[in-house]
Amino acid sequence: MLFDPSFIREAAAVYAGKRQHVYGVTHNDSYRYTVRRNIHRLEKALIMRPRRKVFGSDYIGETINALKKIYITDVANPQRKMEIKWFVDVLTSYFETVDRVGSIESSYSVFKELVSEVSNLNRGSVPFSRSDSPALPFGYDDLFTLFRRRRSVRWFQDREISRDLIDKAVVAALQSPSACNRQPFEFRVLEGDVCREASKIPMGMSGYGEKVPVLVALVGKLDAYFEERDRHVIYVDGGLVSMSFMLALETLGLASCPINWPDIERLEKKMDNLLGLSLWERPIMLMAIGYPDPDGGIPFSEKSPLEAVRVYEAG
Ligand SMILES: Cc1cc2nc3c(=O)[nH]c(=O)nc-3n(C[C@H](O)[C@H](O)[C@H](O)COP(=O)(O)O)c2cc1C
Repeated sequence: MLFDPSFIREAAAVYAGKRQHVYGVTHNDSYRYTVRRNIHRLEKALIMRPRRKVFGSDYIGETINALKKIYITDVANPQRKMEIKWFVDVLTSYFETVDRVGSIESSYSVFKELVSEVSNLNRGSVPFSRSDSPALPFGYDDLFTLFRRRRSVRWFQDREISRDLIDKAVVAALQSPSACNRQPFEFRVLEGDVCREASKIPMGMSGYGEKVPVLVALVGKLDAYFEERDRHVIYVDGGLVSMSFMLALETLGLASCPINWPDIERLEKKMDNLLGLSLWERPIMLMAIGYPDPDGGIPFSEKSPLEAVRVYEAG
């Protein structure tokens, strides 16, 4: 009664992710995740006040080694080119800034040789000042209106949704924060029969699921991590990106309803089969999306008052 076997499945997924991160040879995602994390650490070190003369020495070798593994394929891949540019720009800035003592100098030699081919990329993907951020064209009240307007919608028009709109919402959502900027997730957009099949799997869609025009399954990737302590990050990052996605949909005239993903073995197996998920890939949540039926009811869903949830702790 006190022990639920779903913990074992969770642990198996965490260890499969860790194994894939360390030994994965069939794809280069683990190297990408390593470089993304370390580039993020270097950017943070570059903006530190005061900045140290020597920094990053304990992970620069690992970073350059991982970059070497992916560089040739990714620099030629239009989908990865900007990511590679970010890596190269930050590393260039790092090597220009740091005192290149010991292993830093040897990593620099490897880096220089590696990136000579893309020296024509301009060098903009580096830390910038807050004063260079875009100005906000709206204020709190407008944002509050958007938040109030987003409500879980379960009744949709029978109307096709352009993939361009979904893609736009994903692009906006990708601006969300994620731990060490790893972005360890994938948006699986389910249309047609796949959508209908998937809508039968979670338990929270009974009564309206079959009429949902499109479902998005947000899939978390545990191969982004090499330590158990990060096993919850896919859920945090996944929640943040999902919220941004649903808000973006709202600005495009679409509505959504988040759907709970229950941790139940037989349901997970069904979803794994339908989406072809690996052991280290876990559904985080589903989102029903579509054009809202203007006559469809929406639960009132009173929100908690400020005083019930806000506690200041001051010394
Ligand atoms: C993680 C999560 C899981 C949810 N699961 C379901 C679900 O399985 N079925 C459903 O109809 N609604 C689901 N919802 C929608 C909630 O019921 C809804 O967000 C809540 O009642 C507040 O209403 P609002 O979204 O309109 O503000 C879920 C929401 C979240 C955030």
